[in-house]
Amino acid sequence: MGHMAIAIDGPSGAGKSTLARMAAKELGYIYVDTGALYRTVGLYALRHGADVHDEQTVAALLPEIRVEMRYDGAGVQRMVLNGEDVSDLIRTPEVSMAASAVSALGPVRAFLLDTQRDMARRYDVIMDGRDIGTVVLPEAQVKIFLTASARERARRRWRELREKGMDVALEDVLRDVETRDKNDSGRALAPLRPAEDAVMCDTTELDLEASLELILDTVKKRQSHG
Ligand code: DC
Repeated sequence: MGHMAIAIDGPSGAGKSTLARMAAKELGYIYVDTGALYRTVGLYALRHGADVHDEQTVAALLPEIRVEMRYDGAGVQRMVLNGEDVSDLIRTPEVSMAASAVSALGPVRAFLLDTQRDMARRYDVIMDGRDIGTVVLPEAQVKIFLTASARERARRRWRELREKGMDVALEDVLRDVETRDKNDSGRALAPLRPAEDAVMCDTTELDLEASLELILDTVKKRQSHG
């Protein structure tokens, strides 16, 4: 591997995407959001009325799908599905559910593997997901497992929703977080778990600035000790 690769895995709500984006900017690396790939496949399956839980049905659609990651002038990742920019369309709750379902299917994970590895072959990357350190880039020089307590992750998500004007109960958000944790960690394929050589970073007690500092310190330490 001629390029640097930093893998950031962890449960949803730990702050992976925000922190990975900030760290990438700081380091001059390309930030690769792998969840967006699963979301794009989920969107395609939804549009075609497919049962997103059915492996054969979804697998049959894959040859029709061309997923591309592009970067705009500001370095922001855009997702292109068969020539159409779907970056905004993949952020709905429906697509989140579909992405979660299709990400449990073997053919989908295999289909998206090359795209992810190809990015790491071409660029210095900081890549976030669930199985980057364990499956996608086992050779990554730095692996970070980013966590926070379920309650703290729920509180952050709750604050976000409130800022968007949505009136939701913290306990409901917490229940969703716990359900998703169980799904992600309990699935047979590429379950969410830290790589053996991952550095555990717990941000429960840290704000964004302190979390970023922890990540950059971890990267520096790893890089200087080889
Ligand atoms: O990080 P996200 O919420 O955008 O991810 C969308 C879904 O894809 C989520 O249910 C987990 C799954 N996913 C995965 O299985 N493996 C990855 N490397 C990234 C995301």
